[in-house]
Amino acid sequence: MWPVRLVARTPGSHPGNGSSILPRAKIKPSMYPDEEQSIPDEARENEHPLLISQINPENRAEVARYYQFEIDQGFSGVNPNTTFDKMIDLRQRQIVDGQLKVARAMEGDQLVATSVVVLENGAMGKEVKPTEAYAAGTVVLDDKRGRGIGERMASEQDNIARAAGKESILTVIANYNSPSMRLRMSVGYVLEGINEYPGGIDYAFRKNLIKEQDAPVNWVDELRGGRVSETDKTISDSSPEQIIIDPADDVLVKEALENGYRGLHLLRPQDFGDKPLIDKNMIVFSRERL
Ligand SMILES: CC(C)(COP(=O)(O)OP(=O)(O)OC[C@H]1O[C@@H](n2cnc3c(N)ncnc32)[C@H](O)[C@@H]1OP(=O)(O)O)[C@@H](O)C(=O)NCCC(=O)NCCS
Repeated sequence: MWPVRLVARTPGSHPGNGSSILPRAKIKPSMYPDEEQSIPDEARENEHPLLISQINPENRAEVARYYQFEIDQGFSGVNPNTTFDKMIDLRQRQIVDGQLKVARAMEGDQLVATSVVVLENGAMGKEVKPTEAYAAGTVVLDDKRGRGIGERMASEQDNIARAAGKESILTVIANYNSPSMRLRMSVGYVLEGINEYPGGIDYAFRKNLIKEQDAPVNWVDELRGGRVSETDKTISDSSPEQIIIDPADDVLVKEALENGYRGLHLLRPQDFGDKPLIDKNMIVFSRERL
């Protein structure tokens, strides 16, 4: 059986050292490769390299800025029983104590993304074993999405977890959050569990940080070649080794997990170009490539 987990296509930065990387340009190449692409001078002046670093816990203003960013993006809030200042005190203490670390991405003076990694059981209410870290949230500024920043933040989270001696990193994602599921599976996380709670479903993902990442798989070709099948409504021992399931179908996802499948990739209709073989996002599950 071939190994399958996908490789992060971009190098990460080193914890503690700001590392400067230009964001991946998701721009269609010119039809004429020799044609010089002209970029207006004004646009060039406004271009800044992406600098990823960790929040310095001794710098309260940096902690406050990260937390305010999460609030502004609708990702965090301040509980009515406390205040913003008290939240910053708590977060700062947690970072100083090594319970969690926060990475941020800057373009010039602009804060464009933040990511949290929980390193100690109970911090931010996350349950982790001593060998596990938890990717507690990556937020990229709305108009900076789709340029590979999320991928680089995930890579920085791996660096933080590895530096703390962790063997795997976990996260949970709401089953409707396609960008986040696509991102995590693209960088090697595997869908391995399901959490049901009143009013929602989360899928649980894990990335093995010790095992070397395997060669990427072209799932579009796998589907086109008939090596990934649509499923009927039940899964059994005789079901095909590789199947696609609608992420909204939590009943079938649960059945697949119980039958030894793991989710490896989120396929979108637009991945197929003009002739999509699917009409909505689907997760590829496999029980042979684990
Ligand atoms: C999830 C999030 C962090 C991704 O950040 P990003 O910078 O856009 O991510 P990237 O550009 O690195 O893209 C990562 C992958 O997601 C895919 N993606 C981006 N936007 C997508 C969308 N709207 N739908 C489906 N996939 C999408 C990209 O195509 C890419 O996959 P590919 O390289 O295989 O094509 C960003 O969408 C975000 O901040 N969302 C709001 C906060 C959130 O939900 N965080 C996760 C909570 S668990």
